[in-house]
Amino acid sequence: MRKGVDVFFFSLLLSSLLCSEAKTSREKSIPPVVLIPGDGGSQIEAKLDKPAVIHYICSKKTEGWFDLWLNMELLVPYVIDCWVDNMKLVYDNVTRTTTNAPGVTTRVPGFGNSTTVEWLDPSHRSPTGYFKDIVNALVPLGYERGVSVRGAPFDFRRAPNEHDEYFRDLRRLIEETYQSLGRKVILILHSMGAPMMHYFLNQQEQHWKDKHIETVVSLAGAWGGSIKAVKVYTAGDNLGIYVISSLKVRAEQRSAPSLAFLLPSSDLWGPDDILVETPTKNYSTANFQDLFTTLNLPDAYEMYLDTKDLLKNPPAPGVEVHCLHGEGVPTVEKLVYAAGKFPDSPKVIYGGGDGTVNLRSARRCLEWVGKQKQKVYHKPYQGIDHMAILRDSDVISYVVELVQNITKKNMRLSQKKAENLNRLEKNRNDKAKQHILERNANDVIMPMKWFDAIYANKEEYMKQQSNSRVNNRHPNSVLALLDEDHIVTES
Ligand SMILES: *[C@@H]1O[C@H](CO)[C@@H](O)[C@H](O)[C@H]1NC(C)=O
Ligand SMILES: *[C@@H]1O[C@H](CO)[C@@H](O)[C@H](O)[C@H]1NC(C)=O
Ligand SMILES: *[C@@H]1O[C@H](CO)[C@@H](O)[C@H](O)[C@H]1NC(C)=O
Ligand SMILES: *[C@@H]1O[C@H](CO)[C@@H](O)[C@H](O)[C@H]1NC(C)=O
Repeated sequence: MRKGVDVFFFSLLLSSLLCSEAKTSREKSIPPVVLIPGDGGSQIEAKLDKPAVIHYICSKKTEGWFDLWLNMELLVPYVIDCWVDNMKLVYDNVTRTTTNAPGVTTRVPGFGNSTTVEWLDPSHRSPTGYFKDIVNALVPLGYERGVSVRGAPFDFRRAPNEHDEYFRDLRRLIEETYQSLGRKVILILHSMGAPMMHYFLNQQEQHWKDKHIETVVSLAGAWGGSIKAVKVYTAGDNLGIYVISSLKVRAEQRSAPSLAFLLPSSDLWGPDDILVETPTKNYSTANFQDLFTTLNLPDAYEMYLDTKDLLKNPPAPGVEVHCLHGEGVPTVEKLVYAAGKFPDSPKVIYGGGDGTVNLRSARRCLEWVGKQKQKVYHKPYQGIDHMAILRDSDVISYVVELVQNITKKNMRLSQKKAENLNRLEKNRNDKAKQHILERNANDVIMPMKWFDAIYANKEEYMKQQSNSRVNNRHPNSVLALLDEDHIVTES
């Protein structure tokens, strides 16, 4: 009775030990994830000590850091004017770089952890959830925030030409994550994160990518820009945040080089694709200069020149890509202006896409099929818009399944590695044993000179023993000699 209970507890203990063993080996096999957000997808903190403000209600100086993006409270009427003034970048057309407005210092918090890209508003108020649903789906698989699921937020106001430091930090983050977990990294990109990473990956050596990158999952990747960027320059756009007036934030948006970087690529839209139609002139990617001149935005035009060739006929990224995007959501394709309506009040003509990224841009990843040895998987989702893709259950299931497939592959690899190690170890043991045997054999074979020394009168001795069975053996084997002695004594 008592014994039965002990056995029961023992087997319980054993099975739980085995289970936790299996669990940790699975956890050790999960591929780490690095999240790359899109435009507006990183938090920005600011500190003020401004020479002047545009409105008496705006703060001139702050004690410490405050949340500049995203804090919904700053986006309400009047206060939003202060926000625009703090968020705007100032372009220097000589150095061709941007700085914050005078007296504004900014920083992007949380690099390396996932929390600041899970929620854009640090108070975690909806509707500002961002990568949270994806991370929440990863945690039950054994992921740990800041360890195996990491975020790489960046100042989304700027384009790749001003992100050397970010790209260096990102490369280090990927290497460090790969080294500490011993597994290749999955990059999950959203929106502008896709062309950012296309640029980044094209800067890395192929052997670095082969070593560190498992695969890339792009969600609503704006690979070839978006016609919506044209609308932001002309009529403005509220980035889908209903409380913001398009016209109010237009000044802030136009100051961002990332907006120029997101203009539709001339690789995908030619001179015949009219993007803006007015009674007197039509505009396509072939005459953006005229559009910027008409809008009187000389700096924006310079930013366009700085960024337009960053991804001009770009080579394939040289990594496996899972290209997921929504489709069938009306997406700005053309702005048509009646007389006197330019630029604030266009009639918008819609086409295919996810509401922000045009289908042509989202499908650009298909260009790489056959142009790189790594596979390109493409999966459109009907009716899923640009932001909804981050919380869509089918999309999250795809990511989870992919992660599980890679985990299994890693476990098989570990198994194989362990087997190889075992085999190696066994070989080594066998070799060592062999070596010992050989050494033993050598040891028992007495060198001839010792034999000579011991048996000074060997000739005679051998003669004497010539009929002994010992002669069937090695003549100077110690064992043989012992045997012989034994025999000798016996006789
Ligand atoms: C550069 O900026 C200065 C001052 O804003 C302006 O006078 C000049 O025309 C600009 N040059 C170009 C090439 O835009
Ligand atoms: C990541 O952030 C979370 C929440 O802020 C925190 O609990 C966790 O310790 C951080 N992880 C690392 C590795 O810094
Ligand atoms: C602009 O393009 C439309 C067709 O999209 C054409 O009918 C119209 O004549 C063009 N206008 C000008 C000024 O070229
Ligand atoms: C996971 O692996 C299964 C079996 O090989 C495959 O059918 C499925 O498409 C894979 N899923 C993803 C998301 O790659």
